[in-house]
Amino acid sequence: MQPAQESVPSLIDLGKQYWLPVYKPRELVLDRGKGARVWDTHEREYIDFGAGIAVNALGHQDPDLLAALTAQASKLWHSSNVFYTEPPLRLAQELVDASGFAERVFLCNSGAEANEAAIKLVRKWAATQGRPPERRVVITFRGSFHGRTLATVTATAQPKYQEGYEPLPGGFRYLDFNDASALENAFSAGDVAAVLLEPVQGEGGVVPVAPAFLRRVRELCDAHDALLVLDEIQCGMGRTGTLFAHVQDGVVPDIVTLAKALGCGFPVGAMLAGPKVAQVMQFGAHGTTFGGNPLAAAVARVALRKLGSTEILANVWRQSTRLREALQSIATESALFAEVRGRGLMLGAVLTESHKGKASEILDMAATHGLLLLQAGPDVLRFVPPLNITDEELDEGLARLRIALRAFIAR
Ligand SMILES: Cc1ncc(COP(=O)(O)O)c(C=O)c1O
Repeated sequence: MQPAQESVPSLIDLGKQYWLPVYKPRELVLDRGKGARVWDTHEREYIDFGAGIAVNALGHQDPDLLAALTAQASKLWHSSNVFYTEPPLRLAQELVDASGFAERVFLCNSGAEANEAAIKLVRKWAATQGRPPERRVVITFRGSFHGRTLATVTATAQPKYQEGYEPLPGGFRYLDFNDASALENAFSAGDVAAVLLEPVQGEGGVVPVAPAFLRRVRELCDAHDALLVLDEIQCGMGRTGTLFAHVQDGVVPDIVTLAKALGCGFPVGAMLAGPKVAQVMQFGAHGTTFGGNPLAAAVARVALRKLGSTEILANVWRQSTRLREALQSIATESALFAEVRGRGLMLGAVLTESHKGKASEILDMAATHGLLLLQAGPDVLRFVPPLNITDEELDEGLARLRIALRAFIAR
């Protein structure tokens, strides 16, 4: 007699039972990917316009990333920072060279950790100048997102991420994004140590910095001896059409943070420090066990080389125009989008008044029709496909988007 078949809970049920319920994933289980396509465990195929939240910038299974990872995996996985290994040493030098402003690099594991390091560096810099704690204020902007650790969630000027986690660390001041006169006023207190901002706000709705605003921020920082810290965790690494987003604004920052696409899916973060601050943190001032892990660094070196190549950056500009035009024509045809905004392959379609709050429903519909899409808040659809997406993949994704939107309207 056959033994009774054990009942196997579905994979999704495992998530529902065992994960801390802080996420609400769509009801599908992804299994494998290739280029800008992914397949779920039922062999359903999707075009990936979300790229793991702007992470898989070279799509899935890039052969060069795979080769770098497997070559390093067969040599040495981890050593900690009490010993040197080659990949993080080379990566640091390559990041400095590529940045055109940085002198030193701190490698870590995530975006929040890179921003945490940046905030600590600002505070340490101010301390070494003899500024008392109350004069070490970091200005950030409403709609920003800088991470989920206590300091970075406090830097994130959105109450929904902070509620319930009080007491929050002090020393942050929030302003409206792109409001130059508010910034001028905020400096008048004489207590500002740094301004921290995303050149394109991601989670806050895909909002690019206004023309000339970043230059004004730089001028004010210079005039008041404050640091300019740019969070390029989402908008950096080629996503806006240049390796670093701020290059398009003609400013030189003091600190830049990177993560997400730096590892193209392998967890890694970096804080790049310019001449004013490169020597501020000395032995023992900061650290992390996994930062500069040889596996992560080996992958990031390849990601940096490829994402900074003229081939990839030219593709970003080209596909950005194609995607923007398609979204604009959907806006005209359907009255679903009030505005299409963003830079490069970081675009947001803002829902019209009558569809406000429905982004999540549209994402469900998109997944049903074979398209993985993200939102940036309840009112904005976010498009952050791989930077090497092909014409065919983009067109197929857009065709599925049109079908999904028709189904959404007809529901
Ligand atoms: C601009 C920005 N900064 C920081 C972070 C936090 O990065 P992580 O989730 O890797 O901690 C994110 C994540 O979405 C981000 O978009």
